[in-house]
Amino acid sequence: MKFISSSIGRKLLVALSSIFLIGFLFAHLLGNLLFFKGPDAINAYSQTLHDYPVFLWFARIGLLTIFIIHMGLGLKLSLENRKARPQGYSKKNTVQASLASRFMATSGLVMLSYIVYHLLHFSLGLAHPELTSLPLDKLAQEDIYQMIILSFQKPIIVITYFIALFVTMLHLSHGIPSLFQSTGLSSASHRKKIQYLGRFLALLFFFGYSSIPVSVYFGLI
Ligand code: HEM
Repeated sequence: MKFISSSIGRKLLVALSSIFLIGFLFAHLLGNLLFFKGPDAINAYSQTLHDYPVFLWFARIGLLTIFIIHMGLGLKLSLENRKARPQGYSKKNTVQASLASRFMATSGLVMLSYIVYHLLHFSLGLAHPELTSLPLDKLAQEDIYQMIILSFQKPIIVITYFIALFVTMLHLSHGIPSLFQSTGLSSASHRKKIQYLGRFLALLFFFGYSSIPVSVYFGLI
């Protein structure tokens, strides 16, 4: 408890939780890219996940818990930074920290809205039932492939995903270097390299994820 009530402890927990969330982003991207292998590959992948409900729910509850910790402590840190009054020589650093954390909080809240929408869209099928309540495929599996094709033919859905993925990229390009700093893995001599790594991973996620809506919308698939 003492650990969580200290600012260092909170920073460390936000950093550690982000490692799991980035791991999820990697795994989800690899799963999604099966789309390019065709309907059988991505539908079978989704079916395999649903064939192990205990494992799936364990992962979902774990992910949700980590997400809540990350959001809750991240927002608390952001409010603390905002309250920290700029004084004397530390004025410039305080203002910069406050701007960065305000940006992280805002982009984090945009991502939260996106995730709620995304779950309503694909997982629960409530956002656009006309695009996601489809007959099963020829192997009697949920037709995720067709859901993706129908969804990303709609410009408004493509634009929504594109904006969300862009904001995710900005959040990660600042968050990944901060993660190294909070865990003490960053040093002055490596700072530039870590910044490049953050940008590289953020761009990788952005292009990886947006390749799906873009290729469907422009008829490349
Ligand atoms: C174009 C990009 C994306 C596509 C095409 C996509 C596709 C999907 C699909 C089809 C599902 C449902 C899987 C199933 O029920 O079998 C899903 C679930 C999910 N997606 Fe995405 N996704 C994308 C981006 C993202 C991003 C950027 C995030 C996180 C920020 C994310 C987070 C999730 C979560 C948390 C679930 C729920 C997993 C579960 O069922 O427990 N997705 N996604």
